[in-house]
Amino acid sequence: MYSIHVDPRHPGATINRNIYGQFSEHLGRCIYGGVFVGKDSPIPNVNGMRTDVVDALKKVQVPVLRWPGGCFADEYHWRDGIGPQEKRKRMVNTHWGGVVEDNSFGTHEFIELCRQIGCAPYINGNVGSGDIREMSEWVEYLNSAGDSTVVQERWANGQHDPFNVRYFCVGNENWGCGGNMRPEFYADLYRRFQTYCRNYGDNKLYRIACGPNGGDTHWTEVMMREAGNHLDALSLHCYTVPGSWEQKGSATDFDTDCYYLTLATAENMERIVSAHLAVMDRYDPKHRVALVVDEWGDWFDVEPGTNPGFLYQQNTMRDAMVAALTLNIFNSHADRIAMANIAQMVNVLQAMILTDGDRMILTPTYHVYDLYRPHMNASLVETAVFCDRLENGLKQLTASASVKDGTVTLTVANLSADQAAEVLLDAGDCRVEAAVTLAGKPQDYNEFDGRENAVHPVAFGDWKQTEKGAVATLPPCSVTAFTFRG
Ligand code: AHR
Repeated sequence: MYSIHVDPRHPGATINRNIYGQFSEHLGRCIYGGVFVGKDSPIPNVNGMRTDVVDALKKVQVPVLRWPGGCFADEYHWRDGIGPQEKRKRMVNTHWGGVVEDNSFGTHEFIELCRQIGCAPYINGNVGSGDIREMSEWVEYLNSAGDSTVVQERWANGQHDPFNVRYFCVGNENWGCGGNMRPEFYADLYRRFQTYCRNYGDNKLYRIACGPNGGDTHWTEVMMREAGNHLDALSLHCYTVPGSWEQKGSATDFDTDCYYLTLATAENMERIVSAHLAVMDRYDPKHRVALVVDEWGDWFDVEPGTNPGFLYQQNTMRDAMVAALTLNIFNSHADRIAMANIAQMVNVLQAMILTDGDRMILTPTYHVYDLYRPHMNASLVETAVFCDRLENGLKQLTASASVKDGTVTLTVANLSADQAAEVLLDAGDCRVEAAVTLAGKPQDYNEFDGRENAVHPVAFGDWKQTEKGAVATLPPCSVTAFTFRG
C-alpha cells in the first residue's frame, strides 16, 4: 500500500492565491465571444460580459487575470481601446489569425470584467512596439487621481476614481515576439521603462519584468544582475508541448505513451522553476524578488477545421492531470512563487471554459481549479509521498496539502492511466471529513454534442478511517481533494 503523510502541526509559507490566476489575450475567441459579447448580444450579458462565463469564473474564485497578452501586448496601443466603442481604431491582429480587432474591449471593459469576476487586474504593457510615454501614460490613466489631461480623459470616459491596478508587467516575451531582444538590451530597457511607471496615491505598483523562456537561465541571470533591484517579480513562460512545435499532437487523439510523455514534460516545471530560483537566490538571497509563472499549460495542435491562429484545443482528463501536477509543484514553492496564470482562460490552449455561440462547457481543467480552491491563501503543509514510479520514472502519485482555519486540504493525483492506487492518508490527529474526485480515462472530455458534462467531480466515498489514518483507493487518472479536520 502507498502512503501519504502530512503534518499540519507545522504550517509553512502561505500559498499565494494568485497562483490560481488566469490569462486572457486578444487571441482567437478568448476575449471576443469567450467573455465579451457586447451589450447588444442576444447572449445573456452584463455590460457586454457573458453571464454564464462570469458566473463560472466567480465560482472558482479567480484571484487575478492577466491581459491583453501575450504577444498581442507588444502590439497593443491602449489609446486605441478607450472612448466610444464605435469610434475606436480598427487593426488587424497580425499575430493571431489575421482577424480585425475593433478594440471594443479595452481598458474599461477589462476592469469591468475583473470587477464582475471579483479578481485583481494584471496588465501587461507594450515595450516591443510602444514607447515609454505610452506606457507611462497608461499607468497614469489607470491609477492617478491628479487633475492632468490624461486623467481628465478617464473622467470623460466615465470613470472618476482611479482603477488602482497593482500588477503591471513591462513587456511580454521580449526575447521573442516582444522584440527579439537580448537580455542585456531588455534589462536596460526594462530599467528605463519602469522608471516612468509611477506609483500614484497609496497604490504601489507591483513591477513584473519579462523573464525567461522555459529553462533559459542565462536570461534570468542577466535580468537579476542588471535589473534585480528594480523589479518585484520576474515572469517565467513555460508550456507543456509533448511533441515538437511543428507537430504538437492532438488534444484528444493520443495513446498511453503520449499521455505519460505529456505528464513527464509537465513535470519538468519542477526542475525549471528550481533552476531559476537557484539563480535568483544568488543575486537576491533575501528573496525580495518573486517568480511569476504568467503563462503555462498544455499546448497541442488546434482542433481540425479551426483557424490555426486561434489556438483552440479541446481539454481532456490528461489536461486535468497536468493541471493537478503543476499546481502541486507551484504550491510546493509557495515561498517563492507569487503568481501563476494558466494559458488561457476561455477557448484558447489549456482553457478552463469552452464556448460555442451561446453555449458553454466547463473543462476538466476547470474542475481541478474548483477542487484546489481551498489551497488559496492557506498555509503549505509538508507532504511526504511514498509510492511506486510509472514506467517512465514519474511517481504515480503527486500530492499537495495546506491548512487554513483548522481545515486541512490534501489534493492527490493518481497519474496512472489504468491502475488504481490504495493509499494510506496519515494527517496525524486529523480525520477525513469529506472527499471529492475527478476521474476518467485520459482521453475523456466534455463536448457540445450531448457530452457537455461527461467529466465532472463527484463525492468520493472509497475510503475508510483506520487507526493509522484513512485508507483510500484512488481511481486511475484521477484528482481527489480530501478535507481533514482535527
Ligand atoms: O499564449 C499564447 C502565446 O504564447 C502568447 O501570446 C505568448 O506570450 C506565448 O508565446
